[in-house]
Amino acid sequence: MSRPTFIECDRLELKPPEEDDIEFLREGANHPDVRRYINVFRTPYTEERYRDELWPREHDEDTVSLLVVPTDGDLSGEPIGSVQLAPVIYTDGYANFGVWFHPKAWGEGYALEASAHLLEYGFKELRLHRVSATVMAPNEDSQSLCQRLGFVHEGTARQSQFANGEYVDVERYGLLASEWEGPNEVLES
Ligand SMILES: CC(C)(COP(=O)(O)OP(=O)(O)OC[C@H]1O[C@@H](n2cnc3c(N)ncnc32)[C@H](O)[C@@H]1OP(=O)(O)O)[C@@H](O)C(=O)NCCC(=O)NCCS
Repeated sequence: MSRPTFIECDRLELKPPEEDDIEFLREGANHPDVRRYINVFRTPYTEERYRDELWPREHDEDTVSLLVVPTDGDLSGEPIGSVQLAPVIYTDGYANFGVWFHPKAWGEGYALEASAHLLEYGFKELRLHRVSATVMAPNEDSQSLCQRLGFVHEGTARQSQFANGEYVDVERYGLLASEWEGPNEVLES
């Protein structure tokens, strides 16, 4: 399917999701390895519920949500994940960063590449001053991604979420525009 490209990366394109992408997005939200550490995905999404609750959020004015599509390799042309700035609070130059990838595409550096280009867009084109990320403490892959992107660990909210049968700490990260090194530096580091 041909979707309009919003951001071009080296191996990926970032595209606004369209109607035909709902099934991929819903499959991701329901995947046990994806929803494990994402509270909003904790209960099952039927197509009807996804369309009612999550699909409208993809297009909110305060949301930048982009589908990630590789341009070559086995997964070429197929969506593999989603990166978001949501909400974006334009008056404060603030956004919250979110990301998930389908496990079939983990470990290839795609999340790092897509996230670095989304942050570049946020800082350079939306003129953000700060981007935050909150990550459940056991989510080591996500913490590692934030650290590779240059996020600074700012604190721990102790036992502030319930996940997989236990209360877990939530690690709070922040990245200021003055600290952002750019996608090339991040991807080459
Ligand atoms: C968090 C998540 C997006 C990370 O995805 P990922 O596929 O593991 O991320 P990447 O492939 O970009 O990076 C993983 C590692 O592969 C490395 N890598 C492998 N091949 C690479 C390549 N060709 N280029 C660059 N890096 C590469 C990365 O450097 C990174 O190494 P590091 O962990 O030592 O820093 C994924 O685990 C996920 O979707 N989890 C479920 C949802 C979730 O928890 N989201 C976050 C909520 S806060």
